[in-house]
Amino acid sequence: MNRDCIVVTGASRGIGAAIALALAEQGHHVICLSRSGAVPAYPDAPAEVAARWVGRQADVTQPQALLAAFRNLSENGWRITGLVNNAGLHIDAPSAELSLDQWHQIMDINATSVVSTCQAVYPHLVAAGGGVIVNIGSFFDKLGVKRNLAYCASKAAVGAITRCLAVEWAGKGIRVIDVAPGYIQTDLNADAMAPEGPLRAYLDKRIPGRKPGTATDVGALVAALFTPAGNFLTGETIYVDGGQAIAH
Ligand SMILES: NC(=O)c1ccc[n+]([C@@H]2O[C@H](COP(=O)([O-])OP(=O)(O)OC[C@H]3O[C@@H](n4cnc5c(N)ncnc54)[C@H](OP(=O)(O)O)[C@@H]3O)[C@@H](O)[C@H]2O)c1
Repeated sequence: MNRDCIVVTGASRGIGAAIALALAEQGHHVICLSRSGAVPAYPDAPAEVAARWVGRQADVTQPQALLAAFRNLSENGWRITGLVNNAGLHIDAPSAELSLDQWHQIMDINATSVVSTCQAVYPHLVAAGGGVIVNIGSFFDKLGVKRNLAYCASKAAVGAITRCLAVEWAGKGIRVIDVAPGYIQTDLNADAMAPEGPLRAYLDKRIPGRKPGTATDVGALVAALFTPAGNFLTGETIYVDGGQAIAH
């Protein structure tokens, strides 16, 4: 008998791990796909929640590896009903000096891989009678940010990819949503965003609620999109930035 699962890319740490936690808490089996294949490192997670994580290794920039990973899941009795494209990369550099290699590296992982992962999952979602794809974008998608030329362009592409697939695949029962976080505190940037950290004074001025978001905030929102709350929602970009991008 097939077991239903949701694939989350980049679930080994950071925001992806929090998404995997929220989905598993909701009762979903979660395929945690990354280059390491590690499952989230939450030592306090209840055993029945951790038991719903299954690690799988694949590099999202390698379309053949993605196709093989999805095929392997299917051959092992998993029915894929959802996908969260979370794996991503941030590089900042002055725009005049950004190398085209860096540009392609960012576009490959943040935008092109979203296309190839969606293409790889498509036949599985169709076979399942439909499903949900959540792409993790960024509120930088509509901002002009110094030293972030490639990152901003890649996340704007995620919004466009989301809209196109949402319209084209709606007839197959597939919904596609872009969740676009603002500043989110994770292990990697915790020092910079800590109350005495170098970014904190800036964030206190810019975010109306005077604090960054957490990976848990993003995980809870993404998990909600896999409930009936999301039934009539598709193609949209949902900003989860504490109002930063709309604040004067
Ligand atoms: N943190 C923020 O403030 C923030 C704000 C807005 C948007 N975002 C977006 O949220 C997403 C997650 O960000 P994060 O800060 O949580 O990132 P992170 O902590 O750097 O984690 C990245 C995850 O992606 C995986 N990964 C990286 N390259 C991969 C590849 N080629 N193939 C497969 N997996 C790969 C990593 O695992 P392996 O190393 O094991 O492969 C890891 O699990 C990204 O799309 C990012 O742009 C983050």
